[in-house]
Amino acid sequence: MRVNEAEFVLSATDLSALPSDGLPEIALAGRSNVGKSSLINRLTGRKKLARTSSVPGRTQTLNYYRINGSMYLVDCPGYGYAKVSRETRRKWGKLMERFMLERSTLNLVLLIVDVRHPPTKDDCAMYEWLAHHRIPRLVVATKADKVGKTRWPSHVAAVRKTLAMEADDRVILFSSETGTGTDELWERIGQAAERKSSGIHS
Ligand code: GTP
Ligand code: MG
Repeated sequence: MRVNEAEFVLSATDLSALPSDGLPEIALAGRSNVGKSSLINRLTGRKKLARTSSVPGRTQTLNYYRINGSMYLVDCPGYGYAKVSRETRRKWGKLMERFMLERSTLNLVLLIVDVRHPPTKDDCAMYEWLAHHRIPRLVVATKADKVGKTRWPSHVAAVRKTLAMEADDRVILFSSETGTGTDELWERIGQAAERKSSGIHS
């Protein structure tokens, strides 16, 4: 997809503060530091749109980015970061849970994992939770540039196996560094955004 316009719209810590224009939303979930914000920058071709950091815990709110006036990419706080206080983790968890279960314009959740390593316990719990609630999901295995191309298939197989993925669910290999997977991911996002209905929960 050609991104003509990508703009930051708002940060929210409460569902009542989210946009009410009804545009379809694609959310990014994943471990802290896995590369969610970097992925948004690569997808939009705007290097500094979403703030990234080598220190985990950078993104602490739901951050909305409007793309071509027709959909939102929603950057979310990462999970599994031990240094965030228990209280903060609980709050983020609750916010994410309500967002994913109640947000009627949410059309797809991208579950971002690190292709270098088998998914963590938290990744598995997240996938299982999405599958259990029948929330449309797409696993994106990022940092592909850190693994030799010949080893991609075995790493993707390890992701599938560890997450115990359903046969119909796909994994897309991605790299924010090189752009691997960008076209394929946009295609999927475009399809999800066009899905008729007001999202997952209608
Ligand atoms: P939180 O906001 O803390 O949850 O992290 P995040 O998931 O948004 O991660 P972020 O995009 O900030 O990236 C974390 C670190 O990983 C940064 O140092 C990025 O430069 C690096 N990174 C992200 N994606 C890639 C990738 O595809 N390849 C490589 N080599 N590094 C990446
Ligand atoms: Mg981030």
